[in-house]
Amino acid sequence: MRTPIIAGNWKMNKTAVAAVEFVREIRHELQNIKGIDRVVCPPFLAIPAVYEVLQATNIGVGAQNMYFAEKGAYTGEVAPDMLTPFCQYVILGHSERRALFGETDEGVNKKVHAALAHGLTPIICVGESLTQNEGGETQVFVSGQVKAALAGLTAEQTATCVIAYEPIWAIGTGKSASAAAAGSIIGLSVRGAVAEMFGEHTAQQVRIQYGGSVTEDNIADYMAHPDIDGALVGGASLKPSFVQLVQNAIVN
Ligand code: 13P
Repeated sequence: MRTPIIAGNWKMNKTAVAAVEFVREIRHELQNIKGIDRVVCPPFLAIPAVYEVLQATNIGVGAQNMYFAEKGAYTGEVAPDMLTPFCQYVILGHSERRALFGETDEGVNKKVHAALAHGLTPIICVGESLTQNEGGETQVFVSGQVKAALAGLTAEQTATCVIAYEPIWAIGTGKSASAAAAGSIIGLSVRGAVAEMFGEHTAQQVRIQYGGSVTEDNIADYMAHPDIDGALVGGASLKPSFVQLVQNAIVN
């Protein structure tokens, strides 16, 4: 049985002060929700302060990106062991990073290796554009992204990864993919790609989230799909109603 996981990707929102205020507000209710992993992913500068507030809870902290090298002349980058004192998770290969900051499948793969080597759980993002979706390219493109991100891992390492299927056209648009459509891509192209690489047993262990305009009103639909193990939530993770969203994620 896979433990569901809901992660809030705050993107470039909240100063350290605002972040602390927010997690203080939601932590008690959030930590009382059982049977589901809950993670917040603040901007880098807020991570240590958020960790301080959440360290005595069972709420996880994640980063939104990371560089793969250990240290050195990489101006502006953050190394894995700078995150490990504060984070258990790291989001890698988000479509915004791919589109706006030139991240490639190869770079994402290096980051996945580095995260696992440092004991961080990667939340690996994949997803197709509207043009690809309308052109019927979703399956091939998404399974290609999954295979590229997981290249060179062992089955054991892969089993610990989280993958987030986030169709680009659904991010921040209010146009979420239907649970049936998302579940089908997740089953066929995400879990299917893992199965092709590492076998069905490993594929059944990997947790796969849906992301893209998830709200407290639609989360239960996604969670009811047997192939969807949680959500990567953007805008709706910035408000206190994130607690209700997580609560609504518990179905049956
Ligand atoms: P929204 O939930 O704001 O659509 O963002 C989704 C996302 O990109 C999470 O990583």
